[in-house]
Amino acid sequence: MNLEANMIATPQRFQLSAVTEGMAINPYAIRRDFPALQQSVHGKPLVYLDTAATAQKPNAVIDAVAHFYRHDCANVHRAVHALGERASAQYEAARKKVQSFLGAQHSEEIVFVRSTTEAINLVANTFGRSHIQAGDEIIVSEMEHHSNIVPWQLLTQSVGASLLVIPFNEQGELDLDAYATLLGEKTRLVAIGHVSNALGTINPIAQMIEIAHDRGIPVLVDGAQAVAHMSVNVRELDCDFYAFSGHKLYGPTGIGVLYGKREILASMPPYQGGGDMIANVTFEKTTYADPPQRFEAGTPNVAGAIGLSAAIDYVTHLGIGGFAEHEDILLRRATEAITSIPGCRIYGQASAKVGVVSFTLDGVHPHDLATIVDREGVAIRAGHHCAQPVWQHYGIAATARASLGVYNTPEDVDTLMDALDIAAKLFR
Ligand code: ALA
Repeated sequence: MNLEANMIATPQRFQLSAVTEGMAINPYAIRRDFPALQQSVHGKPLVYLDTAATAQKPNAVIDAVAHFYRHDCANVHRAVHALGERASAQYEAARKKVQSFLGAQHSEEIVFVRSTTEAINLVANTFGRSHIQAGDEIIVSEMEHHSNIVPWQLLTQSVGASLLVIPFNEQGELDLDAYATLLGEKTRLVAIGHVSNALGTINPIAQMIEIAHDRGIPVLVDGAQAVAHMSVNVRELDCDFYAFSGHKLYGPTGIGVLYGKREILASMPPYQGGGDMIANVTFEKTTYADPPQRFEAGTPNVAGAIGLSAAIDYVTHLGIGGFAEHEDILLRRATEAITSIPGCRIYGQASAKVGVVSFTLDGVHPHDLATIVDREGVAIRAGHHCAQPVWQHYGIAATARASLGVYNTPEDVDTLMDALDIAAKLFR
């Protein structure tokens, strides 16, 4: 398919379904799997363009979670009764599903957590507290989500270490020369986002990991915004930690994953204390279970893990390798159209991007913009997107952000454009 031929300058409109014809991903068929997308909002058909905040859920995920609660609900690793065994088997099968999804070598390298945020806090409070001391340095980037900044600030401030920051350029691409200069004798960890939720930039993490490893420095990758857009293989990347959340991968909220190399997880102290993370408890001394149980204190989110497993099956069945091509066509359409609106500016024009467009319209607060387009049935996010340093770079406080999912169609992008047109006229 000739992509150039399908690049559209607004207001030109043409046969929209032809845009995605012949591609691996057919959003018109896919969106039928998502009940939430079938509704109207303010009397208009819902156009959901906030998938970077959370993806809508397909029936396969909703049904898997409901099935667990209807038929198999029991605690895991505790009971020998039939339901307990079924629940435990499904929970551990979900771990194996994630292992295979990430290309990890061992299922014990997969720790179930609440979210990417919890995964990073876990590493900061275990690996961080046992490996990072006064005078040491941790490197993050200027485009990190707060969840990959604040846990490291809490750690460095409490132990007397420092946080160093890789800058990005006007396009929203990391400065790799600056990165190489920041790495030094005192660097103990690099913590880097795979994809920026604010700018959409896909960072060259394979290269960044190699540069860090050449100096013996481990790397944590925040993959929250990456896993729903591209295939990720932790063994090929050779990252030491990889974190992601189920809900951005069309799975349930409240379930996330921390991948960690087996030997590193084995060297880490527990995160939280409680049931299921111990080997033996006395009042004199407690010994701990091996990973991953060591890091899963208390009753886990069993239904969440099962729902995540169903989400992985779903995206694997669709063919995640085709997601990028689909998104790219819509991203280019949205970028061109937004750029053509007088007074609109897009932040983040990296050469490698996922379907995230952050933008402002002169004289209109992003919250007002999002409110007006919501009246047209279009859901976008407005604010700092939990990445305030990104906007400090550009000297602004907030943007509007449209983010794409596998179910979005060219019509969705055009409806956004129509809604933005209404907003622009309202304020002029
Ligand atoms: N981190 C999510 C976002 O980018 C919530 O919207």
